[in-house]
Parts: sequence; structure tokens; C-alpha cells
Amino acid sequence: VATSASILSRAALGWNADQPDIPLAVINRLREKLRAEMEVIDSGHNHATVVASFSSVRLRGANDVACFLITGEEKEAEAAARQFWRSVGGPEQLVLVLALSEDAARSAASALPADFFCVFGPSDLASLLDSSDPLALLKNKLREQVPWRRLMPFITKHAVHGNMFYGRRNEIQRLIDEDTENFAIAGQGRIGKSSLVAEYVQRLRKKRDPRVEAYAFCDFYTCQPKSETAIVQFLGKAIGGVTSQSVNLTLEGLEPFLRRRAHQIGRPLDLLLEEVDMVCDSQTFKVLAHISKRAHGPIARLVLLGRGELLRAAYDEYSPLGKHVQLMRLEPLDEESARRLLIEPLADMGVGFSDEQLVLAMILRLTGRLPQLLQYFGAKLAKLALEQGCRTISQRHVEIVRLDMETVRMFTSPLEDIKDPLAEMVALLLLERGIHRVDEYVVMDVVRSTDIQVQEPRSRKICDDLLLANFLSWTKTGLHIANEAMGLRVRETDYLVPAMDRARKRVQQRVFL
Ligand SMILES: Nc1ncnc2c1ncn2[C@@H]1O[C@H](COP(=O)(O)OP(=O)(O)O)[C@@H](O)[C@H]1O
Ligand SMILES: [Mg+2]
Repeated sequence: VATSASILSRAALGWNADQPDIPLAVINRLREKLRAEMEVIDSGHNHATVVASFSSVRLRGANDVACFLITGEEKEAEAAARQFWRSVGGPEQLVLVLALSEDAARSAASALPADFFCVFGPSDLASLLDSSDPLALLKNKLREQVPWRRLMPFITKHAVHGNMFYGRRNEIQRLIDEDTENFAIAGQGRIGKSSLVAEYVQRLRKKRDPRVEAYAFCDFYTCQPKSETAIVQFLGKAIGGVTSQSVNLTLEGLEPFLRRRAHQIGRPLDLLLEEVDMVCDSQTFKVLAHISKRAHGPIARLVLLGRGELLRAAYDEYSPLGKHVQLMRLEPLDEESARRLLIEPLADMGVGFSDEQLVLAMILRLTGRLPQLLQYFGAKLAKLALEQGCRTISQRHVEIVRLDMETVRMFTSPLEDIKDPLAEMVALLLLERGIHRVDEYVVMDVVRSTDIQVQEPRSRKICDDLLLANFLSWTKTGLHIANEAMGLRVRETDYLVPAMDRARKRVQQRVFL
């Protein structure tokens, strides 16, 4: 078996376009050593481009790192590096230059824009392949060479997968194993529905599961459901692209259309349908639900993602969706995952905790373990510490973040998102009285104290409204106040009295209207 040193020194001498085995030997060694997914996407004279995925490196861009393996003389290396950058450069793109010669390291560095890449020279590569903890070495190098703001791992703006996806083990496994079961993943915004499906697709891809060929994705967010035809054609275009068949699709044509598509792919379709609230009551979805239940049909199963409307449709046992679709609800992250979501990315940024148990317990309570709030808190803490040049987070930092204006706005926004005035009043009363566990009877009780009577269906609707506004969280054991920051804030300020007044007036107006 060749030693790492011999593989590196052979590759340093260079290779031709028809000798891809030489760079490949280095890449294979790196792959083993770093336990990463690495795929060669281009290989030529003295250079190779590889896309690497480091799912245990919690730094921005680590899911999808463009690596450039290079050797040779300066002029040639510089031109190759320019070409490489043109093909991979972009926002958030992390770039690793793996230079087998000093010349190549220098010229690649001068060809690439400053701050956008990390260079491993020949001796760094040797130590990497020799190291007992190569990932730690990789992270150190990244932190040394790339500004920390570019490495900030926490994401709150879009769905996450790979290195920043935590928890949801059972849910992912169900999507993978129960592959002919229809699911409605329904619930409040930002609980992690889109992330769950993104991670599911990534897992299939990583396992090279043939089912990855069969999924079709359609996001109905921009669909204007003016008519059934508009809906069915929107779906058709997402599945089959803009073709004469998809733009002329009718509801009657849907099943043959899907059958042709499934035939082309060679297996029934795994339909992942996003943001279906506006369309889940449509005829198109009734037809989809029926087709999905047909043995040997063109649909393997449906995965529907949505909020209140989907939740209602899935509850309703008389609706076609209610009959044919299993409701999957998402809880806040489990404690262990929530902890790791804070500890690991911060550690990879070079930041630790002064009293880990205590500080984490504070953050878990404030955020209610809601994934987006955890990521938000992590980002704020990392920024605060690194801007101060401090490497340890203490209780004091948590307090600073909690009282920050942006945090206050974000954590109390559920109160503003409650549309129904009576539900808003219930929310304020729950906070005032410090009630944490909520169900329809608690709601009836709270309302009764204001001399208004509500019956069970209405109070159940109030619970749903409070959940969908992110005021409550759903868990298998019941509904809870979604985050403790709201209650703290309300008690610490004069928020409650005027807000309660306003809500009461709105309720009375409604009552008399
Ligand atoms: N499993 C998860 N692990 C870590 N963070 C998550 C997870 N799920 C969601 N998030 C966080 O929550 C945010 C919103 O997630 P997203 O999947 O878009 O929610 P939804 O589709 O329910 O609105 C993400 O940007 C991310 O910060
Ligand atoms: Mg979403």
C-alpha cells in the first residue's frame, strides 16, 4: 500500500489530462482521512476540481466546498486557478486550495480574491494526512485564513440541511422507510418543515438511493390558484418542465400525465409539495390523493407541507386528504439536539461556554428549543463574542442578547401575528398569569374570567390560532407557551396593560358587530 507521503510526492510531479488516477489517489486518501463526501467534477493537466461535503464541520459552506487540487509552475497554475474561480466562485462558496507545490500555492493565492479561500500548501497536506484529528486541523486552518463572518454557520433565513440540520431522527426515518405512506407535515411557520424535507432528499442522495431519481418537487408559494386548470398546470410544469403537455394540462389529463412521467423515470413518483395551504382544498389535490392510493399507480406517495389550512384538511376525516394522508407534526427540537446545535457550531467558530450547563439551560428555556430561535441565538452570541475578541460565552452574554431590540422583536412577534382578537386576549392573559401548559379547557377557563363565554369548538380554534402564530408549541404531551422570552418581556415592561386594553376593545367591537 502506498504511503501518503509517496502519493503526495508523486502527484506533486504533475499529471496529464489522461492520467486522472494520479490526482485521484490524493483525493481518495483525503476522503478516507476526513470522512467526507468528495466528488471529482473536473480533472485536467496538473489540476482537478472536487466538490466536498463535510457534514461534521459546522461552518458556513462546509456542505458544499469547492476544492482545487493543483501542482506545477506559476504561470500555468495561475491561469488554472482563474478558470477554476470563474466556474465555482459565488456568494457563500467556501474554497479550499490543495497545492502540491509551493509555486502552485503562491500562484493560486494570487489568482483568487482575498478572504474567499483557504490554502493548504504541500507541508499542510502532509500534516493533514498524518494527523490523528484532521478535521480539527482543517477547521483551524479555515479560521486562520477566512474571516469569521464568512464562516458564521448559523442560518435563519432559509431551510437547512447537512451540517446545520439537527434532530428529527424519527421523522426522517419515517419518510425514508414508509415510502408509500402519504404525509401531511403541517404546522406553524419556521418549525422546520422545509428543512426536514431538504434533509430527507440529501440523505437519499448521500446513500445513492435510487428513489432520489423519483422525487418531484413543487412549491405552491407562487401559485395563483385562480382555477383548477391553473393549479394543475402549475404542478405539471414543476414536474415535467415547461412543455406543450404541461402548459395544456387539464385535471382529466393529470393521471395519464403522471403515468407517462413515472414511466420515463422508471418508477412511481415521490411528490414533495411545498406551501400547499392555498391549494390543498382543490379538486386537483383530491385527485392526487386518490391517485396516490392506487396500487401500481404513478404516485408512490405524497408529502405535503403547509400550515393552518393543511392542518385543518388533515384533521378532517371526511376530506380526501384527511382520509388518505397521515398527519406529521413537528415538535421543538429535543434537548440533546438543541444543545448540540449551539455547542458544535460555536466550538467550530472557536467559541466555548463559561458554565456550559447553566448557560445552555438558559438559552433552551428562552428559545423553547424552537430551531429557528436557537439558530438566531447562536448567531447573536457568536457575533457578540467574536466582535469583542472573547472566546467564552457567559450568562452576561445571554442577557445582552435577550435584551437586544432585534431579539425582543423576534421573540415577541407571535403576539403581533395573532389575527383573532379573542385569541390575542387569551395569549395576553396566559402570559399575565404565567400559565405554561394550554389546552381547550384552559382557554375556556381563561376566557370565562373576562365574562365572555366560548364553547369547545371555538376554544380549540383559538388553540390552533395560537399555535400557528408561534405563540404555542405542539408536543406529544400537549401545547406549551412557545418561548419564555415573551413572558419575561411582558412582565418586565408596560406591554401588558395597553395591549390588553386594545385587545379587549377589539373583542367588544366584534361582539357588537
Ligand atoms: N432540524 C433543524 N436543525 C437546525 N435548525 C433548523 C432545523 N429545522 C429548522 N431549523 C431552523 O429554522 C429555520 C426555519 O426552518 P424551515 O425549515 O424553513 O421552517 P418551515 O418550513 O417550517 O417554515 C431555519 O432557517 C433554521 O434556522
Ligand atoms: Mg417552509
